[in-house]
Amino acid sequence: MDLSVRIGALRLKNPLMSASGCFGYGMEYADVVDLSTLGAVVVKGLFLAERPGHPPPRIVETPAGMLNAIGLQGIGVHRFVREKMPELRARGATVIVNICGTTIDEYTEIARILSDVEGVAALELNISCPNIKEGGISFGCNLVNTRQVVSAVRKATPLPLIPKLTPNVTDVSSFAHVAEEAGADAVSLVNTFLAMAIDVETRRPRLSNVMGGLSGPAIRPIAVRMVYECARLVRIPVIGMGGIASAADVLEFMIAGATAVQVGTANFVDPFIWGKLESGVREYMRRHGIERVSELTGTLDIPGEKRA
Ligand SMILES: Cc1cc2nc3c(=O)[nH]c(=O)nc-3n(C[C@H](O)[C@H](O)[C@H](O)COP(=O)(O)O)c2cc1C
Repeated sequence: MDLSVRIGALRLKNPLMSASGCFGYGMEYADVVDLSTLGAVVVKGLFLAERPGHPPPRIVETPAGMLNAIGLQGIGVHRFVREKMPELRARGATVIVNICGTTIDEYTEIARILSDVEGVAALELNISCPNIKEGGISFGCNLVNTRQVVSAVRKATPLPLIPKLTPNVTDVSSFAHVAEEAGADAVSLVNTFLAMAIDVETRRPRLSNVMGGLSGPAIRPIAVRMVYECARLVRIPVIGMGGIASAADVLEFMIAGATAVQVGTANFVDPFIWGKLESGVREYMRRHGIERVSELTGTLDIPGEKRA
C-alpha cells in the first residue's frame, strides 16, 4: 500500500500533516508522536521578530469547535532556526514552516532566511495576517494583495510555496486561482472562520480580542465545500483542513479534491490521533482495493454527472 503523496516537487510519506498553531514547533509533541511518521510537521506561524500575542482569555470552547485569538504569538524566525530546527532535523521530521508578515518585505525576508536552512521542506504562507500598509485588512481578503505577496515570496525563495487561504471571503476559489497564477506550488485551506462569543451574564466578549477564529468539527462541511470548489478550479495540489477528527474526515477531504490534509484542533483533544488516522485510511484502502492513496483525490461521484 502506498500512502505517499506529491505536493509539487515535495514527496510526503503520507497525506497527514499537523496544522499550524496546533502542534507547537513540533518538539512539544515529540514524546507522544514519532515526528518522522507524519507526512509533514507544519510549525506555528513565524514573524521575523518574537511576538507576545494577545492577553488571555485566548481560547473558548464552542459547540463542536473552538474559538481562538492567540494573536500569532511566536518566537520569531531567528530563534526558530537556532533552537528548534536542529532537533526537528535530528528527529527526521519533514518540516513545513508557516510564515507571517505585516508587510510584503517581512514575508520575503523570512522566506530568504529559511531558504538557506537545511531541513526546511516548504513554506506555508499565512496570508490571513493584517497588512499594516492597507489599514490592517488581511492580505488574503484581497485578490490584488494576495497576488502581490505570493509573487514576491515566489521570487525570494526556491522552496515549494503553499499559500494558506482564509475562508473569510466570498469566493475562495478565485484566491486559489490567483495564488496559482502567482507561482504557488500548492494551496492549503481553510484557516479559521472569523467569529465571536459573548458571556451574557457579564455582557463581555469571551475573548480578550473580542473576535477570534473558529476551528474544529463545526467548520468541516464548509471547509469540504471550499476544498471542492478550489480543487475543481486549479491544477496545483490542494491541502485540505478544517475539523478533521477521524479517518473518514481525511477521506472526505481527499475525495473532495485534497491531495493531503492537515489536522489542528483534533490534536488538542487527542494527541494520539495520528496513528488512528493512518490505520483508518489503510483499512479503507484495503476494503476498497485501493493501492495508492493518491488515487482517491478528487474522486467525488455525483450521480448523473460524468467524471473528468
Ligand atoms: C490555537 C490555534 C492556533 C493557530 N495558529 C495558526 C498559525 O499560526 N498560522 C496559521 O496559518 N494557522 C493557524 N491556525 C489555523 C489552523 O492551522 C487551521 O487552519 C484551523 O484551525 C482549521 O483546522 P482544524 O479545524 O483542524 O483546527 C491556528 C488554529 C488554532 C486553533
